[in-house]
Amino acid sequence: MAKANHNSALFLSSVLVLSLLIFSMAESRFLAVGGGLLKPRTPECDEVFGVRSDDTCFGITQSFNLTTTLFDSINPNLNCTALFVGQWLCVAGSA
Ligand SMILES: *[C@@H]1O[C@H](CO)[C@@H](O)[C@H](O)[C@H]1NC(C)=O
Ligand SMILES: *[C@@H]1O[C@H](CO)[C@@H](O)[C@H](O)[C@H]1NC(C)=O
Repeated sequence: MAKANHNSALFLSSVLVLSLLIFSMAESRFLAVGGGLLKPRTPECDEVFGVRSDDTCFGITQSFNLTTTLFDSINPNLNCTALFVGQWLCVAGSA
């Protein structure tokens, strides 16, 4: 009886170790996929500018000496035809 209990405890702990192993393998796989998705990393913004009336994306890039490439990359998903007064734009940073 004591021997049977010992064996089932051994079996249970093997199952536990095995499932932890599978779980950590699945998790590292998930992290690898997540890291791949994050590759175009989120831009860092060092300075913001509040849009005033009559401001345009072009005018803002001119006054801050930004290339449109940099401006676009630090302001992802910005719709320049729908700028609104008080909208915060990133005018310095890196992407
Ligand atoms: C932008 O560049 C011009 C010419 O190089 C310079 O006179 C001006 O001070 C710069 N403006 C800013 C905000 O850096
Ligand atoms: C940008 O905004 C304009 C005006 O609201 C809209 O017509 C256009 O579809 C928008 N473009 C994108 C890519 O969301």
